[in-house]
Amino acid sequence: MTANLARDWPYPRLVAHRGAGKLAPENTLTAMRVGHAHGYRMVEFDVKLAADGVSFLLHDATLERTTSGRGRADALPWRELSQLDAGAWHSTEYAGEPLPTLAAVARWARAHQVACNIEIKPTPGRERETGAAVALDAAALWRDAEVPPLLSSFSDEALMAARYAVPALPRAWLTDKLPPDWLERLAHLGCAALDTNHKVLSAEVVRRAREAGCRVLCYTPNDPERVTALAALGVDGIITDAIDHIAADSLPPPLPLPVP
Ligand code: G3P
Ligand code: MG
Repeated sequence: MTANLARDWPYPRLVAHRGAGKLAPENTLTAMRVGHAHGYRMVEFDVKLAADGVSFLLHDATLERTTSGRGRADALPWRELSQLDAGAWHSTEYAGEPLPTLAAVARWARAHQVACNIEIKPTPGRERETGAAVALDAAALWRDAEVPPLLSSFSDEALMAARYAVPALPRAWLTDKLPPDWLERLAHLGCAALDTNHKVLSAEVVRRAREAGCRVLCYTPNDPERVTALAALGVDGIITDAIDHIAADSLPPPLPLPVP
């Protein structure tokens, strides 16, 4: 399925980073709604595990920056995490916004036909467990969905665990830099896409990935001219914060992969 999915890529070309970029508290349901209200039909968000194994949205390994809690994010069970304020740090307008479970976001996204890029973001030491659990949760939550969620991770261990748990779900390898063996790493991980920092992308990298049957995504260009240039290189998915400056439908659909 992965190879076919790379070929018949079903995802929009522009993706709202953490739901709505910086316009709303990242990784909350409100952020997803704001992204949707700006026309975005795909959202990227970060998922990790609570102490009791519940998949929920949070970027950092610790709670301080974006919630009213303290300490490691995986030290508390979901019943305690669910009581935290994940909006006041952003602005008074969003005070009281809760952390969402992956299940809540899946329900919302499916109801509104919004495609999802689930970034598996394990707390340190829980890479394998998180990769497997998030993949299993995603498979159950998106059962029979027309467009499956795209899993991604910076953690090879999490990606491999996700692959083993649910081979059919598409995965993207996140890497901030491109090591010399990046194409081999992509193949070894069995990923449908490379997902990298837009600053390391060139026409040659995009061409080589696509000729190998992989799509190319990048994060997080926020300058409209840079986004247009990346699309001209053939980048298939662009994850941006600038949802209020870059119209969600401003790019043509991704090009077909070259015939092998
Ligand atoms: O998934 C792409 C991007 O979100 C990776 O970086 O730190 O924003 O999760 P980060
Ligand atoms: Mg992310």
